[in-house]
Amino acid sequence: MSVPEITLNDGTRIPQLGYGTFKVPADDAQRAVSEALELGYRHIDTAAVYGNEQGVGAAIAASGIPRDELFVTTKLWNDRHDGDQPRAALGESLERLGLEQVDLYLIHWPTPAKDDYLHAWQRLIELRADGLARSIGVSNFLVPHLEKIVTATGVVPAVDQIELHPAHQQPAVTAWAAAHDVRIESWGPLGQGKYDLFGTPAVAGAAAAHGKTPAQVVIRWHLQHGYILFPKSVHRERLAENIDVFDFVLTDDEVAAIDALEPGDGSGRVSAHPDEVN
Ligand SMILES: NC(=O)c1ccc[n+]([C@@H]2O[C@H](COP(=O)([O-])OP(=O)(O)OC[C@H]3O[C@@H](n4cnc5c(N)ncnc54)[C@H](OP(=O)(O)O)[C@@H]3O)[C@@H](O)[C@H]2O)c1
Repeated sequence: MSVPEITLNDGTRIPQLGYGTFKVPADDAQRAVSEALELGYRHIDTAAVYGNEQGVGAAIAASGIPRDELFVTTKLWNDRHDGDQPRAALGESLERLGLEQVDLYLIHWPTPAKDDYLHAWQRLIELRADGLARSIGVSNFLVPHLEKIVTATGVVPAVDQIELHPAHQQPAVTAWAAAHDVRIESWGPLGQGKYDLFGTPAVAGAAAAHGKTPAQVVIRWHLQHGYILFPKSVHRERLAENIDVFDFVLTDDEVAAIDALEPGDGSGRVSAHPDEVN
């Protein structure tokens, strides 16, 4: 079965499961993305700061896959929110990717201490109007950041890409997003391997019950919650494993058991708090 698509609030369609490239080294990116494309991935998530856009672009060019069958996301780094920097930064990303337009352009972090993310959002609205990005969204935005840009501009982001995995489910952001038709993209969907998610009885038990791997169970948990995700691996066999998730369905009880891994006090976060990245 192929990867389902989700329609974003601006009408753009995005494959719900993709391939993430954080920490894919620049000199390995073309190989890794080429393998992902061979295995059927059609949605690639990168960022200027990952330093691998050129390799992503080379793989896309070499693949021969029609451009309209691919969904490519990249992101505006924190030091380029000011002035006309967002336009310059997107131009540089497009050049490295070898594309005329990205499918989704995100503000990577709100950097609230600098108080310049509203300015950056206004520039992204212009970049979309100019056809340089089909859709625009944000990443690592918490509810106050989302409220501020939507109140000021009336333009609701298509997605918010946030750290989200069973031990860190971000109930405030996901509730706000559901109420405003913003899709959640889960980054670090496997917890970045930073805690023993796969060994929990909830995950291991469901894996045994379905004859699937713990990673496949966690990916299904995201999919069944309606989240968009793009697990990262540099290993071909794991790339194949991570997309082989459309032949089973977790029961409501299995989903609930994984939901219960959230400690409820924010302590399951494995990376930086958005208010502290500036
Ligand atoms: N917007 C943001 O601020 C932000 C931040 C972080 C990430 N992201 C995006 O989200 C994507 C995914 O998040 P992530 O890369 O941080 O973390 P992740 O996908 O949760 O975890 C990646 C880790 O899991 C391992 N892994 C992958 N598949 C596996 C499998 N089937 N079995 C066992 N281990 C497996 C990988 O190792 P190997 O590579 O060695 O296989 C890697 O160490 C990123 O690549 C990036 O596109 C965005």
